Amino acid sequence: MTVRIITIDGPSGSGKGTLASKLAAHYQFHLLDSGALYRLLGLSLHQDGLLDALETKLDACTKIAANLDIEFIGTEDGIQILLKGEDVSQTIRTERVGEFASKVAAIPELRQALLARQHAFAQAPGLVADGRDMATSIFPQAQVKIYLTASAESRAQRRVNQLQAMGLDVKINDILANIEARDKRDMERTVAPLKPAEDAYIIDSSELNIDEVFELMTAYADQQFAK
Ligand code: DC
Repeated sequence: MTVRIITIDGPSGSGKGTLASKLAAHYQFHLLDSGALYRLLGLSLHQDGLLDALETKLDACTKIAANLDIEFIGTEDGIQILLKGEDVSQTIRTERVGEFASKVAAIPELRQALLARQHAFAQAPGLVADGRDMATSIFPQAQVKIYLTASAESRAQRRVNQLQAMGLDVKINDILANIEARDKRDMERTVAPLKPAEDAYIIDSSELNIDEVFELMTAYADQQFAK
């Protein structure tokens, strides 16, 4: 039986994570949050004191990447993520670990070491894979390739709303500058840069809410799966 695959790539803050979870629940598919893998690897290398020695101790780092002791456990409240048996579900979402992840993500050997683990998620009946290079390098065979984007301003505004809801005092201009810097790094890196696959369906969510984007995605996926 062919495993059905939906890839969702795009910049941070476009709503990929939320939509990937909704799609996985809707189709009863497995879910790969590939950003979490980079975050876990970044955290693990930091714990081992290797984050500043990625280039000089590349062999050791690559070995750690290939043998990462991680578990994704589905719970009623979402997915619990364990690193070496410890619950790091919250820790890996911090800006700090995001920085660790982006260092790790720029090293081709480390990306390569995470390849088999990502491929292993493709199991029947299907998979929703969320990331930056899901369609362009990890699952080029996917029947449904979606590129979800939104203007930097609208992504910054969403982030400000989230942080303010958490009681934090933030300035939109700081958040916008961070988003623009991260976009530039993701799009200009030589290995697996962020860009839409040639046959991707591109959705700009700047003026759309989650439900509207979900409607567009399921309509497109249903049409592709029916082919
Ligand atoms: O989506 P995220 O913020 O959790 O991603 C964390 C980092 O990992 C970010 O710097 C982009 C990088 N990443 C990547 O290079 N390739 C992926 N498939 C997913 C994430």
